[in-house]
Amino acid sequence: MTRFTVNGNPVEYQLAPDTPLLWALRDASNLTGTKYGCGRGLCGACTVHVDGEARRSCQVRIGDIEGAFVTTIEGLSENSDHPVQRAWVAEQVPQCGYCQSGMIMAVAALLKATPKPTDEEVRSGITNLCRCGTYPRILKAVRRVSA
Ligand code: FES
Repeated sequence: MTRFTVNGNPVEYQLAPDTPLLWALRDASNLTGTKYGCGRGLCGACTVHVDGEARRSCQVRIGDIEGAFVTTIEGLSENSDHPVQRAWVAEQVPQCGYCQSGMIMAVAALLKATPKPTDEEVRSGITNLCRCGTYPRILKAVRRVSA
């Protein structure tokens, strides 16, 4: 059994300790805002916060985060009104939208650590992939939040 906290709620998973956090969240907790893209730590669609840090949940074994505090896109804000989410709406960032919850989680963690990043810090700090190429709007949204 593995215990930790997800979006403020204690959870207990009766899953193998090497189960990827991504699948515990999606299959056991029905938190499907966290997406599966590559399963190899490359795309970032599965990004969540573990103890406040952006992590690729497909690469996090639940047995390694006993007692941790996990936040998913569903728990980032009460009413989808986190400053990053509001900026995403204002700049109409998403196209297909599939990667965007991971992108928002990555940006939220970046801005918490670095509230006024340079464009270069955004480019180097956000390595999530977007097949629709929404990167210019992502940069505008980050600028909007950090202005
Ligand atoms: Fe985890 Fe792509 S699904 S990085």
